[in-house]
Amino acid sequence: MKDLSKLSIGIASDHAGYLLKEDLKTLLKPLVYELKDFGTNSESSCDYPDFAHPLASAINAGEFDFGIAICGTANGMSMTCNKYPNVRAALCWKDEIAKLARQHNDANIIGLPARFISEAEAEHFLETFLTTDFEGGRHEARVTKISKVIK
Ligand code: RB5
Repeated sequence: MKDLSKLSIGIASDHAGYLLKEDLKTLLKPLVYELKDFGTNSESSCDYPDFAHPLASAINAGEFDFGIAICGTANGMSMTCNKYPNVRAALCWKDEIAKLARQHNDANIIGLPARFISEAEAEHFLETFLTTDFEGGRHEARVTKISKVIK
């Protein structure tokens, strides 16, 4: 893996993503500068917004470089995270999507669907996500337009 030692990362899941969250924490802990776990803390049934909001709020405030949001489908987590204007959460279920989420969308949260991908796939998508740069250029204006809500 490329050098991740300067990165600060927040991670959150619901019960469906708990085991994958723990696996990714074990992988990342020795590699990154900071890793904060926003819960959940067991496989007991819980509500994904209770864990997505604190993570997304911290990313929105610029407290971490990247976030990792995990639930069964990654839909609920991504939907909740994307309520925040400075958050761009991307649901990643293929390596190429993780790469393009960074290159084209400057995504700052990776959404991982724990019930539909293996641990090995999740680790691979995460590595791609964390080590791929935003391309800027023509994508800059498009990304800026994302948070311009028409009332
Ligand atoms: C939990 O059963 C499931 O609904 C949740 O993990 C997630 O997939 C929601 O979007």
